[in-house]
Amino acid sequence: MATLANGIRHFPDYLDRQAQEHLVELIRGVVAEAPLYTPEMPGTGKPMSVRMTNCGSLGWVTDRDKGYRYQPFHPATKKPWPAIPPELLDLWEKLADYPKPPEACLINFYSDDAKMGLHQDKDEDDLAAPVLSVSLGDSCLFRVGGLNRKDPTGSFRLASGDIVVLGGEGRIAFHGVDRIYPGTSTLLKNGGRINLTLRRVNS
Ligand code: SIN
Ligand code: FE2
Repeated sequence: MATLANGIRHFPDYLDRQAQEHLVELIRGVVAEAPLYTPEMPGTGKPMSVRMTNCGSLGWVTDRDKGYRYQPFHPATKKPWPAIPPELLDLWEKLADYPKPPEACLINFYSDDAKMGLHQDKDEDDLAAPVLSVSLGDSCLFRVGGLNRKDPTGSFRLASGDIVVLGGEGRIAFHGVDRIYPGTSTLLKNGGRINLTLRRVNS
């Protein structure tokens, strides 16, 4: 485990291949009920390059009109999000060091050319709880900065099975995904990268 600037913790290769395969199966189950969709940036309505869905009592969504928020149902199907699989709740118990369970698990799917601009995760009332992030499939270049957009940043690769915990001051550090490295994992049949982020929303 490496502790990075701001107390961000990186656990390389935390999940073995079997655990990764099992998680992918669980995520496929979630996606069958709550299909991936292309989110829109607030205001401009510009499509993001990642596709998203959620599981949990709350899911993170965004659209042109109402912007970033948590809601208990899928924006297209209007159905409640599927439950967070117990395996993910176990990971939270082991690594989050926080007494309350996560309410939301955002599922991001990155195709070969998807990325995510530098941002802070700040839509939760509870900023004392960490964000726990699981990487599956192709590697990516992950960038982390400080608490101001202009602070210096550093980048490192996240590979399949890696876990990152953004806690303490690092909870609201700027971060993003610069690029995907296609063909670096055989986990997902059709390539790409899945990122799961578990969050506590209500304090
Ligand atoms: C995110 O910040 O929501 C995603 C981070 C990642 O894909 O690793
Ligand atoms: Fe984020």
